[in-house]
Amino acid sequence: MKALILSGGTGTRLRPLTYSNAKQLLPLANKPILFYIIEKIIKAGIREIGIIVGDTHEEVKKAVGDGERWGVKIDYIHQPRALGLAHAVKMAGEFLGDNDFVMILGDNVFNMDLHVLINNFYSNQANTTILLHRVDNPSQYGVAVVKGGCITELVEKPKEYISDLIITGVYVFDKSIFPAIEQTPPSDRGEYEITDAIQKQLQMGGKVTYELVRGWWKDTGKLEDMLEANRLILDELESEYTISDYPGSSISGKVVIGENVVIKDSIIQGPVHIDQDAEIINSCIGPYTSLGKRVKVEKCELDNCIVLNGTKLIGINKRISKSLIGKNVSIIGGINKIPLMSSFFVGDDSQIKL
Ligand code: G1P
Repeated sequence: MKALILSGGTGTRLRPLTYSNAKQLLPLANKPILFYIIEKIIKAGIREIGIIVGDTHEEVKKAVGDGERWGVKIDYIHQPRALGLAHAVKMAGEFLGDNDFVMILGDNVFNMDLHVLINNFYSNQANTTILLHRVDNPSQYGVAVVKGGCITELVEKPKEYISDLIITGVYVFDKSIFPAIEQTPPSDRGEYEITDAIQKQLQMGGKVTYELVRGWWKDTGKLEDMLEANRLILDELESEYTISDYPGSSISGKVVIGENVVIKDSIIQGPVHIDQDAEIINSCIGPYTSLGKRVKVEKCELDNCIVLNGTKLIGINKRISKSLIGKNVSIIGGINKIPLMSSFFVGDDSQIKL
């Protein structure tokens, strides 16, 4: 069995951050989203991984490498234009050969083991097995109708309600998906939809089964979803720090502190993840906050935030909440302001004076 990760998307809903960062490399608890997916695949025993890349191919290759750090083989397949998920699978035809394969969209994070899905695929002798999730607002997703353990109909972003079970972006396929893709026309949005290809596979006599998400699943395409995914991952942290390294500060809850971090006269309320060489002075951090490498925070209060590498937040006399702040940003506050709450969604290299 092989695995295919789709990392070609441009992340328009996360602009301005995705003008200068591949969305699949944005960090959750200071680790790129793509790394969680790779590790999940490796945990399922798969050793050959193909990553579909687009415009951000150089950045993705540089961050991920050839798989050596995980002891697996990672190949890259370039999709020059984002013509849809079925098109991406077709582009990977040579890499996949006749193998069964797991496919995961590069912005999906979840805490469920892939074994569950793979076991379902083999024990039911399915042609495709899909991870489904029940939601209140299914119209923005691919949606599946089910009966007796099998999927009987799939529609991409249905205009009328057919089911509340959405297609998450985690699939297992056998090679019969390829002839189905060949017979799938582009959709109204001009893309070759994998949902339509699976529907075609059903019409060609294929068997499509499903599992429901156990635990949690998030598509990190939007700011609120990124912050929520960060919260979910931070909740699963195991604490890693030595309290005696930070005299004069109070640290509680699940907290991970990297090397060479300076914390003075501050309160850290976990879950919080602080990467190496960060500096926190006279501040309150947390809960649900991750600070990247070399981040400096002085005289600030932060909760529910993701702050990327090299950013400085100084003297902001308002609580900063629900914010995603890019790399090397500097936000310098005035003094003696009324402490109200502020929220930022700020791209890399920005400079803000309050
Ligand atoms: C894609 C798939 C859709 C699926 C969704 C999951 O949608 O086409 O079937 O439900 O991912 O995130 P897109 O993100 O391209 O709108």
